[in-house]
Amino acid sequence: MNTYRIASIPGDGIGVDVTAEARKVLDQAASRFGFGLEWTEFDWSCERYSKTGTMMPEDGIERLAPFDAVLLGAVGFPGVPDHVSLWGLLIPIRRAFSQYVNLRPVRLLPGTSSVLAGRGAEELEMVIVRENSEGEYSTLGGRHNAGQPGEFALQESVFTRVGVERIIRYAFELARARTGRVTSATKSNGIIHTMPFWDEVFAAVAAEYPDVSSDQCHIDALAARVVQQPDRIDVVVASNLFGDILSDLAAAVTGGLGMAPSGNINPPGEHPSMFEAVHGSAPDIAGQGIANPVAQVLASAMLLEHLGEKAAAQAVNTAVETVLAEGGTLTPDLGGRSTTEELGSAIAAAL
Ligand code: NAD
Ligand code: IPM
Ligand code: MN
Repeated sequence: MNTYRIASIPGDGIGVDVTAEARKVLDQAASRFGFGLEWTEFDWSCERYSKTGTMMPEDGIERLAPFDAVLLGAVGFPGVPDHVSLWGLLIPIRRAFSQYVNLRPVRLLPGTSSVLAGRGAEELEMVIVRENSEGEYSTLGGRHNAGQPGEFALQESVFTRVGVERIIRYAFELARARTGRVTSATKSNGIIHTMPFWDEVFAAVAAEYPDVSSDQCHIDALAARVVQQPDRIDVVVASNLFGDILSDLAAAVTGGLGMAPSGNINPPGEHPSMFEAVHGSAPDIAGQGIANPVAQVLASAMLLEHLGEKAAAQAVNTAVETVLAEGGTLTPDLGGRSTTEELGSAIAAAL
Protein backbone atom coordinates (compact mmCIF):
# COMPACT_ATOMS: atom_id res chain seq x y z
CA MET A 1 0.00 0.00 0.00
CA ASN A 2 1.27 3.46 -0.88
CA THR A 3 1.37 5.82 2.07
CA TYR A 4 1.81 9.55 1.56
CA ARG A 5 3.06 12.04 4.12
CA ILE A 6 0.89 15.16 4.13
CA ALA A 7 1.62 18.38 6.02
CA SER A 8 -1.50 20.28 6.99
CA ILE A 9 -1.33 23.98 7.85
CA PRO A 10 -4.92 25.06 8.61
CA GLY A 11 -3.79 28.67 9.25
CA ASP A 12 -6.33 31.35 10.05
CA GLY A 13 -10.06 32.04 10.05
CA ILE A 14 -12.13 29.78 7.82
CA GLY A 15 -8.90 28.09 6.67
CA VAL A 16 -9.18 25.98 9.83
CA ASP A 17 -12.79 24.91 9.16
CA VAL A 18 -12.42 24.09 5.46
CA THR A 19 -9.16 22.20 6.01
CA ALA A 20 -10.86 19.93 8.56
CA GLU A 21 -13.49 19.03 5.93
CA ALA A 22 -10.91 18.51 3.21
CA ARG A 23 -9.01 16.19 5.49
CA LYS A 24 -12.19 14.23 6.20
CA VAL A 25 -12.79 13.79 2.47
CA LEU A 26 -9.16 12.85 1.82
CA ASP A 27 -9.23 10.20 4.56
CA GLN A 28 -12.41 8.78 3.08
CA ALA A 29 -10.79 8.69 -0.38
CA ALA A 30 -7.75 6.91 1.08
CA SER A 31 -9.81 4.17 2.71
CA ARG A 32 -11.93 3.69 -0.41
CA PHE A 33 -9.03 3.59 -2.87
CA GLY A 34 -6.56 1.67 -0.71
CA PHE A 35 -3.74 4.08 0.04
CA GLY A 36 -2.54 5.62 3.27
CA LEU A 37 -2.29 9.25 4.39
CA GLU A 38 0.01 10.11 7.26
CA TRP A 39 -0.90 13.56 8.54
CA THR A 40 1.24 16.05 10.44
CA GLU A 41 -0.51 19.24 11.46
CA PHE A 42 1.32 22.55 11.97
CA ASP A 43 -0.24 25.40 13.98
CA TRP A 44 1.51 28.10 11.92
CA SER A 45 -0.84 31.09 11.85
CA CYS A 46 -1.51 34.64 12.97
CA GLU A 47 -2.44 33.21 16.37
CA ARG A 48 1.03 31.70 16.60
CA TYR A 49 2.49 35.05 15.54
CA SER A 50 0.63 36.82 18.34
CA LYS A 51 2.10 34.39 20.88
CA THR A 52 5.64 33.94 19.58
CA GLY A 53 6.36 36.77 17.13
CA THR A 54 6.76 34.50 14.10
CA MET A 55 4.28 32.86 11.72
CA MET A 56 6.35 29.69 11.54
CA PRO A 57 9.51 28.47 13.26
CA GLU A 58 12.89 29.43 11.82
CA ASP A 59 13.36 25.93 10.40
CA GLY A 60 9.78 25.78 9.06
CA ILE A 61 10.83 25.23 5.45
CA GLU A 62 13.20 22.39 6.41
CA ARG A 63 10.42 20.76 8.38
CA LEU A 64 8.09 20.78 5.37
CA ALA A 65 10.71 19.58 2.90
CA PRO A 66 10.29 15.80 3.47
CA PHE A 67 6.50 15.80 2.91
CA ASP A 68 4.85 14.52 -0.26
CA ALA A 69 2.47 17.50 -0.31
CA VAL A 70 1.21 20.38 1.80
CA LEU A 71 -2.46 21.23 2.40
CA LEU A 72 -2.80 24.88 3.40
CA GLY A 73 -5.93 26.58 4.76
CA ALA A 74 -5.54 30.34 4.56
CA VAL A 75 -3.20 32.88 6.04
CA GLY A 76 -3.97 36.35 7.36
CA PHE A 77 -6.20 37.80 10.05
CA PRO A 78 -7.05 41.26 11.42
CA GLY A 79 -4.60 42.20 14.14
CA VAL A 80 -1.56 41.06 12.21
CA PRO A 81 -0.63 43.20 9.19
CA ASP A 82 -1.10 41.23 5.96
CA HIS A 83 2.45 41.89 4.78
CA VAL A 84 3.70 40.26 7.99
CA SER A 85 1.53 37.14 7.79
CA LEU A 86 1.96 36.60 4.06
CA TRP A 87 5.68 37.26 3.79
CA GLY A 88 6.12 35.24 6.99
CA LEU A 89 4.49 32.04 5.76
CA LEU A 90 2.68 31.77 2.42
CA ILE A 91 5.16 33.47 0.11
CA PRO A 92 8.31 31.93 1.66
CA ILE A 93 6.83 28.43 1.15
CA ARG A 94 5.92 29.15 -2.49
CA ARG A 95 9.41 30.48 -3.17
CA ALA A 96 11.57 28.12 -1.10
CA PHE A 97 9.99 25.12 -2.83
CA SER A 98 10.10 26.79 -6.24
CA GLN A 99 6.33 26.38 -6.63
CA TYR A 100 6.49 28.64 -9.62
CA VAL A 101 3.18 27.49 -11.11
CA ASN A 102 -0.05 28.50 -9.45
CA LEU A 103 -2.59 26.32 -11.21
CA ARG A 104 -6.18 27.53 -10.90
CA PRO A 105 -8.74 25.47 -12.79
CA VAL A 106 -12.09 27.13 -13.38
CA ARG A 107 -15.19 25.01 -13.91
CA LEU A 108 -18.90 25.69 -13.86
CA LEU A 109 -20.27 23.22 -11.30
CA PRO A 110 -23.88 22.11 -11.08
CA GLY A 111 -26.31 23.81 -8.75
CA THR A 112 -24.41 27.06 -8.32
CA SER A 113 -25.77 30.48 -9.06
CA SER A 114 -23.64 32.92 -10.98
CA VAL A 115 -23.96 35.35 -13.84
CA LEU A 116 -23.14 32.40 -16.06
CA ALA A 117 -25.56 29.92 -14.51
CA GLY A 118 -27.48 28.08 -17.16
CA ARG A 119 -24.60 27.98 -19.59
CA GLY A 120 -23.27 24.56 -20.48
CA ALA A 121 -20.26 23.36 -18.53
CA GLU A 122 -18.39 23.06 -21.84
CA GLU A 123 -18.66 26.82 -22.33
CA LEU A 124 -16.63 27.48 -19.19
CA GLU A 125 -13.72 25.14 -18.64
CA MET A 126 -10.49 27.04 -18.29
CA VAL A 127 -7.25 26.96 -16.33
CA ILE A 128 -5.38 29.98 -15.10
CA VAL A 129 -1.63 29.37 -15.05
CA ARG A 130 -0.42 32.07 -12.71
CA GLU A 131 3.27 32.89 -12.31
CA ASN A 132 3.88 32.29 -8.61
CA SER A 133 7.44 33.26 -7.76
CA GLU A 134 8.26 36.76 -8.99
CA GLY A 135 6.69 39.60 -10.98
CA GLU A 136 4.78 42.28 -9.15
CA TYR A 137 5.23 40.47 -5.79
CA SER A 138 8.57 41.93 -4.91
CA THR A 139 10.26 43.47 -1.90
CA LEU A 140 12.11 45.99 -4.06
CA GLY A 141 11.10 49.56 -3.47
CA GLY A 142 10.32 51.66 -0.48
CA ARG A 143 8.53 54.53 1.19
CA HIS A 144 10.05 57.99 0.91
CA ASN A 145 9.62 61.48 2.37
CA ALA A 146 7.28 60.27 5.11
CA GLY A 147 4.87 62.93 6.28
CA GLN A 148 5.94 65.48 3.65
CA PRO A 149 3.82 66.79 0.79
CA GLY A 150 6.15 64.99 -1.61
CA GLU A 151 5.68 61.60 0.06
CA PHE A 152 5.69 58.63 -2.31
CA ALA A 153 5.99 54.86 -2.44
CA LEU A 154 7.89 52.91 -5.09
CA GLN A 155 7.42 49.26 -6.00
CA GLU A 156 9.53 47.44 -8.55
CA SER A 157 8.41 44.33 -10.44
CA VAL A 158 10.91 41.63 -11.29
CA PHE A 159 10.44 39.59 -14.47
CA THR A 160 13.37 37.27 -15.20
CA ARG A 161 13.80 35.49 -18.54
CA VAL A 162 13.99 32.14 -16.74
CA GLY A 163 10.87 32.89 -14.70
CA VAL A 164 8.77 34.15 -17.61
CA GLU A 165 9.85 31.46 -20.02
CA ARG A 166 9.19 28.51 -17.70
CA ILE A 167 5.67 29.60 -16.81
CA ILE A 168 4.76 30.23 -20.45
CA ARG A 169 6.24 26.88 -21.46
CA TYR A 170 4.21 25.16 -18.73
CA ALA A 171 1.04 26.76 -20.15
CA PHE A 172 1.84 25.54 -23.67
CA GLU A 173 2.55 22.00 -22.46
CA LEU A 174 -0.75 22.02 -20.58
CA ALA A 175 -2.65 23.34 -23.60
CA ARG A 176 -1.07 20.68 -25.80
CA ALA A 177 -2.30 17.97 -23.40
CA ARG A 178 -5.81 19.49 -23.44
CA THR A 179 -5.67 20.13 -27.21
CA GLY A 180 -6.53 23.66 -26.31
CA ARG A 181 -5.24 27.17 -26.80
CA VAL A 182 -3.14 29.56 -24.72
CA THR A 183 -4.12 33.17 -24.04
CA SER A 184 -1.46 35.44 -22.61
CA ALA A 185 -2.70 38.10 -20.20
CA THR A 186 -0.74 41.22 -21.00
CA LYS A 187 -0.75 44.99 -20.67
CA SER A 188 1.76 45.99 -23.28
CA ASN A 189 -0.28 49.09 -24.06
CA GLY A 190 0.33 50.54 -20.61
CA ILE A 191 3.33 48.94 -18.93
CA ILE A 192 6.46 49.84 -20.79
CA HIS A 193 9.18 47.54 -19.49
CA THR A 194 7.82 44.31 -18.08
CA MET A 195 4.93 43.49 -20.40
CA PRO A 196 6.67 44.04 -23.76
CA PHE A 197 9.37 41.70 -22.40
CA TRP A 198 6.71 39.16 -21.36
CA ASP A 199 5.13 39.43 -24.86
CA GLU A 200 8.49 38.85 -26.55
CA VAL A 201 9.13 35.69 -24.53
CA PHE A 202 5.56 34.54 -25.18
CA ALA A 203 6.02 34.93 -28.95
CA ALA A 204 9.30 33.01 -28.86
CA VAL A 205 7.83 30.09 -26.89
CA ALA A 206 4.67 30.09 -29.05
CA ALA A 207 6.85 29.63 -32.13
CA GLU A 208 8.09 26.34 -30.62
CA TYR A 209 4.50 25.06 -30.37
CA PRO A 210 3.07 25.45 -33.88
CA ASP A 211 0.42 22.83 -33.02
CA VAL A 212 -1.00 24.92 -30.14
CA SER A 213 -3.01 28.00 -31.04
CA SER A 214 -2.37 31.11 -29.00
CA ASP A 215 -3.31 34.74 -28.67
CA GLN A 216 -2.72 37.60 -26.29
CA CYS A 217 -5.25 39.86 -24.66
CA HIS A 218 -4.87 42.94 -22.50
CA ILE A 219 -5.73 42.08 -18.92
CA ASP A 220 -8.57 44.60 -18.76
CA ALA A 221 -10.23 43.23 -21.90
CA LEU A 222 -9.52 39.69 -20.73
CA ALA A 223 -11.46 40.36 -17.53
CA ALA A 224 -14.48 41.23 -19.67
CA ARG A 225 -13.95 38.18 -21.86
CA VAL A 226 -14.01 35.87 -18.80
CA VAL A 227 -17.54 37.07 -18.10
CA GLN A 228 -18.92 37.54 -21.61
CA GLN A 229 -17.12 35.02 -23.82
CA PRO A 230 -15.64 32.35 -21.53
CA ASP A 231 -15.93 29.82 -24.35
CA ARG A 232 -13.09 31.71 -26.11
CA ILE A 233 -10.70 30.92 -23.25
CA ASP A 234 -8.92 27.66 -22.43
CA VAL A 235 -5.49 28.12 -20.79
CA VAL A 236 -4.62 31.61 -19.56
CA VAL A 237 -1.02 32.39 -18.65
CA ALA A 238 -0.62 35.43 -16.45
CA SER A 239 1.85 37.24 -14.24
CA ASN A 240 1.59 36.93 -10.47
CA LEU A 241 -0.72 39.91 -9.86
CA PHE A 242 -2.77 39.64 -13.05
CA GLY A 243 -3.31 35.92 -12.37
CA ASP A 244 -4.31 36.65 -8.79
CA ILE A 245 -7.00 39.14 -9.77
CA LEU A 246 -8.25 37.10 -12.70
CA SER A 247 -8.65 34.00 -10.53
CA ASP A 248 -11.02 35.68 -8.06
CA LEU A 249 -13.02 37.02 -11.02
CA ALA A 250 -13.17 33.56 -12.56
CA ALA A 251 -14.21 32.11 -9.18
CA ALA A 252 -17.03 34.63 -8.97
CA VAL A 253 -18.45 33.69 -12.36
CA THR A 254 -18.49 30.02 -11.38
CA GLY A 255 -20.47 30.61 -8.21
CA GLY A 256 -18.19 32.38 -5.77
CA LEU A 257 -14.91 32.21 -3.92
CA GLY A 258 -16.05 29.13 -2.05
CA MET A 259 -15.77 27.10 -5.28
CA ALA A 260 -12.25 27.77 -6.58
CA PRO A 261 -9.27 25.47 -5.88
CA SER A 262 -5.59 26.03 -6.56
CA GLY A 263 -2.29 24.22 -6.57
CA ASN A 264 1.13 25.75 -5.99
CA ILE A 265 3.16 23.38 -8.11
CA ASN A 266 6.85 22.61 -8.23
CA PRO A 267 6.83 21.01 -11.69
CA PRO A 268 10.03 18.95 -11.43
CA GLY A 269 8.74 17.46 -8.17
CA GLU A 270 12.02 18.17 -6.37
CA HIS A 271 10.11 19.86 -3.56
CA PRO A 272 6.63 19.43 -2.12
CA SER A 273 3.77 21.17 -3.89
CA MET A 274 1.08 22.94 -1.87
CA PHE A 275 -2.69 22.90 -2.35
CA GLU A 276 -5.15 25.50 -1.09
CA ALA A 277 -8.38 27.26 -1.97
CA VAL A 278 -8.10 30.48 -3.99
CA HIS A 279 -9.92 32.36 -1.23
CA GLY A 280 -8.52 33.73 2.01
CA SER A 281 -9.38 33.47 5.70
CA ALA A 282 -12.68 35.37 5.31
CA PRO A 283 -12.61 37.17 8.69
CA ASP A 284 -16.16 38.42 8.04
CA ILE A 285 -17.60 34.90 8.44
CA ALA A 286 -14.85 33.25 10.52
CA GLY A 287 -15.95 31.31 13.58
CA GLN A 288 -19.52 30.88 12.34
CA GLY A 289 -19.09 27.42 10.82
CA ILE A 290 -20.71 28.49 7.55
CA ALA A 291 -17.77 28.71 5.13
CA ASN A 292 -18.12 26.72 1.92
CA PRO A 293 -15.57 23.87 2.01
CA VAL A 294 -15.91 23.00 -1.71
CA ALA A 295 -12.87 25.00 -2.86
CA GLN A 296 -10.64 23.30 -0.31
CA VAL A 297 -12.09 19.87 -1.14
CA LEU A 298 -11.43 20.46 -4.85
CA ALA A 299 -7.89 21.55 -3.94
CA SER A 300 -7.56 18.20 -2.16
CA ALA A 301 -8.61 16.46 -5.37
CA MET A 302 -5.77 18.34 -7.09
CA LEU A 303 -3.44 17.09 -4.34
CA LEU A 304 -4.52 13.49 -5.03
CA GLU A 305 -4.03 13.98 -8.77
CA HIS A 306 -0.55 15.34 -8.07
CA LEU A 307 0.29 12.26 -5.96
CA GLY A 308 -0.78 10.08 -8.90
CA GLU A 309 -4.02 8.89 -7.25
CA LYS A 310 -6.06 9.81 -10.31
CA ALA A 311 -9.08 7.57 -9.70
CA ALA A 312 -9.44 8.93 -6.16
CA ALA A 313 -9.10 12.51 -7.43
CA GLN A 314 -11.82 11.91 -10.00
CA ALA A 315 -14.07 10.35 -7.37
CA VAL A 316 -13.71 13.40 -5.10
CA ASN A 317 -14.64 15.71 -7.99
CA THR A 318 -17.65 13.54 -8.79
CA ALA A 319 -18.73 13.47 -5.14
CA VAL A 320 -18.66 17.28 -5.04
CA GLU A 321 -20.72 17.47 -8.24
CA THR A 322 -23.24 14.95 -6.92
CA VAL A 323 -23.80 16.83 -3.67
CA LEU A 324 -24.05 20.21 -5.39
CA ALA A 325 -26.49 18.86 -7.97
CA GLU A 326 -28.70 17.35 -5.26
CA GLY A 327 -28.84 20.78 -3.67
CA GLY A 328 -30.03 19.65 -0.23
CA THR A 329 -26.79 20.43 1.61
CA LEU A 330 -25.53 23.86 0.61
CA THR A 331 -23.80 26.56 2.64
CA PRO A 332 -25.29 30.09 2.75
CA ASP A 333 -23.03 31.45 -0.03
CA LEU A 334 -24.70 28.87 -2.32
CA GLY A 335 -28.17 29.79 -1.15
CA GLY A 336 -28.53 27.03 1.44
CA ARG A 337 -28.58 26.79 5.24
CA SER A 338 -26.06 24.03 5.88
CA THR A 339 -22.86 24.31 7.86
CA THR A 340 -19.29 23.75 6.68
CA GLU A 341 -19.29 20.47 8.57
CA GLU A 342 -22.57 19.26 7.03
CA LEU A 343 -21.45 19.98 3.47
CA GLY A 344 -18.05 18.37 4.08
CA SER A 345 -19.68 15.27 5.57
CA ALA A 346 -22.14 15.04 2.66
CA ILE A 347 -19.24 15.05 0.19
CA ALA A 348 -17.38 12.40 2.21
CA ALA A 349 -20.55 10.29 2.32
CA ALA A 350 -21.06 10.64 -1.44
CA LEU A 351 -17.61 9.14 -1.88
P1 NAD B 1 -11.31 36.35 1.30
O1 NAD B 1 -11.18 35.42 0.15
O2 NAD B 1 -10.89 35.83 2.60
O3 NAD B 1 -12.84 36.83 1.41
C1 NAD B 1 -13.49 37.59 0.40
C2 NAD B 1 -15.02 37.40 0.52
O4 NAD B 1 -15.37 36.09 0.08
C3 NAD B 1 -15.54 37.52 1.94
O5 NAD B 1 -16.77 38.16 1.95
C4 NAD B 1 -15.67 36.08 2.39
O6 NAD B 1 -16.66 35.87 3.38
C5 NAD B 1 -16.05 35.37 1.10
N1 NAD B 1 -15.54 33.98 1.09
C6 NAD B 1 -14.26 33.59 0.88
N2 NAD B 1 -14.17 32.26 0.98
C7 NAD B 1 -15.39 31.80 1.26
C8 NAD B 1 -15.92 30.48 1.48
N3 NAD B 1 -15.15 29.38 1.43
N4 NAD B 1 -17.24 30.37 1.77
C9 NAD B 1 -18.03 31.45 1.80
N5 NAD B 1 -17.58 32.71 1.60
C10 NAD B 1 -16.28 32.88 1.33
O7 NAD B 1 -10.49 37.66 0.90
P2 NAD B 1 -10.08 38.96 1.78
O8 NAD B 1 -11.21 39.35 2.64
O9 NAD B 1 -9.54 39.89 0.80
O10 NAD B 1 -8.88 38.47 2.68
C11 NAD B 1 -8.99 38.05 4.05
C12 NAD B 1 -7.62 37.64 4.55
O11 NAD B 1 -7.18 36.45 3.89
C13 NAD B 1 -6.53 38.69 4.34
O12 NAD B 1 -5.67 38.66 5.44
C14 NAD B 1 -5.83 38.18 3.10
O13 NAD B 1 -4.51 38.65 2.98
C15 NAD B 1 -5.89 36.68 3.31
N6 NAD B 1 -5.79 35.86 2.10
C16 NAD B 1 -5.03 34.72 2.19
C17 NAD B 1 -4.95 33.85 1.12
C18 NAD B 1 -4.12 32.62 1.24
O14 NAD B 1 -3.76 32.22 2.31
N7 NAD B 1 -3.77 31.99 0.16
C19 NAD B 1 -5.68 34.13 -0.04
C20 NAD B 1 -6.46 35.28 -0.10
C21 NAD B 1 -6.51 36.15 0.97
C1 IPM C 1 -3.87 34.15 -3.23
C2 IPM C 1 -3.78 35.32 -2.26
C3 IPM C 1 -2.34 35.72 -2.04
C4 IPM C 1 -1.71 36.07 -3.35
C5 IPM C 1 -2.17 36.89 -1.06
C6 IPM C 1 -2.86 36.60 0.22
C7 IPM C 1 -0.73 37.24 -0.88
O1 IPM C 1 -4.54 36.39 -2.71
O2 IPM C 1 -3.29 33.09 -2.93
O3 IPM C 1 -4.53 34.29 -4.25
O4 IPM C 1 -1.97 37.16 -3.89
O5 IPM C 1 -0.94 35.26 -3.85
MN1 MN D 1 -5.78 35.93 -4.42
